[in-house]
Amino acid sequence: MIDLRSDTVTRPTEAMRAAMAAAEVGDDVYGEDPTARLLEERVADLFGHEAALFTGTGSLANVLAVASVVGAGQEVLCEARAHIARAELGAHGAVTGLTMRTWSHPQGRIDLAAIEDLFAPDLGPFFVPTAAISVENTHNFAGGAVLPLAALEAVRAFAHERGAKVHLDGARIWNAHVATGTPLASYGGCADVLAVCLSKGLGAPVGSLVVGGQDAIDEARVRRKRLGGGMRQVGVLAAAGLHALDHHLERLADDHAHARLLAEACGVDPSTVDTNIVVFDHTDAAGFVTRAREAGVLISAVGPRSVRLVTHLDVSRSDTETAARLLASLTT
Ligand SMILES: Cc1ncc(COP(=O)(O)O)c(C=O)c1O
Repeated sequence: MIDLRSDTVTRPTEAMRAAMAAAEVGDDVYGEDPTARLLEERVADLFGHEAALFTGTGSLANVLAVASVVGAGQEVLCEARAHIARAELGAHGAVTGLTMRTWSHPQGRIDLAAIEDLFAPDLGPFFVPTAAISVENTHNFAGGAVLPLAALEAVRAFAHERGAKVHLDGARIWNAHVATGTPLASYGGCADVLAVCLSKGLGAPVGSLVVGGQDAIDEARVRRKRLGGGMRQVGVLAAAGLHALDHHLERLADDHAHARLLAEACGVDPSTVDTNIVVFDHTDAAGFVTRAREAGVLISAVGPRSVRLVTHLDVSRSDTETAARLLASLTT
């Protein structure tokens, strides 16, 4: 089986496992895990922020990040297919007590005019006040689309002029960085708080981080413990993240090339594929997924008429060519 369901299905390499086994560890709830500290400092630095906090999942990182800028009874604005709106099972409402309103864009882009229409200043006991705007880069369900830096800068300026904050779901910010050459610190500078993942294209088995100012991260550390996310000798996991940053970042370009090859096989214009995800319409997404599985390729339906393929570390060039041939035979 060639598994193109998600870039989360990768298994740690031998070298990553060796780095995990050799990690220096301590009790991270006591703040004594040197490897977790190292990873947090390194990632905070990469994005030009003061501090970072390791979490077990991207969903927890997003919940903590958004909660650092939006409180109960306030709202966050995001694109309609954003992961925080669609795929975190209502955690932000259930845990934080915030609400969401969304704008829609076919490529998952920032629509400043729509945001302006949605934005609600705090007028007292009338409307839910907008506390933050959330953006997702790359945008998973919009086919790994990269948000242009200029649009991110514009949304930051818009939000800050109105006293609101920007949250960036950067689960795949690494892919945006490799695809465009935009420095990670430039992306970091566009957001007050970020969530980034090591467990997607970078190939770590576990691990995400909240990145932001020291106060936000201190607060997130308390909330993480409250939610049961305080882990002890977490350095074994942080070591996988450090290894991934050292060895798996630049190779994301291969995943992007593989995604374009698969897009072409599925009749999608490869120039519309920015990174490692291909999303395309199919009249019977579930049926196509079943036929692909019977042919030896695992893919996902992400809507009744929407199919998604994701390339990653465990899919070689020759796997990609085989999958492309098999998928092309199903689409013709
Ligand atoms: C854009 C985005 N944000 C957040 C997450 C959540 O990550 P996790 O599955 O580690 O909770 C995902 C997961 O695929 C994602 O695609």
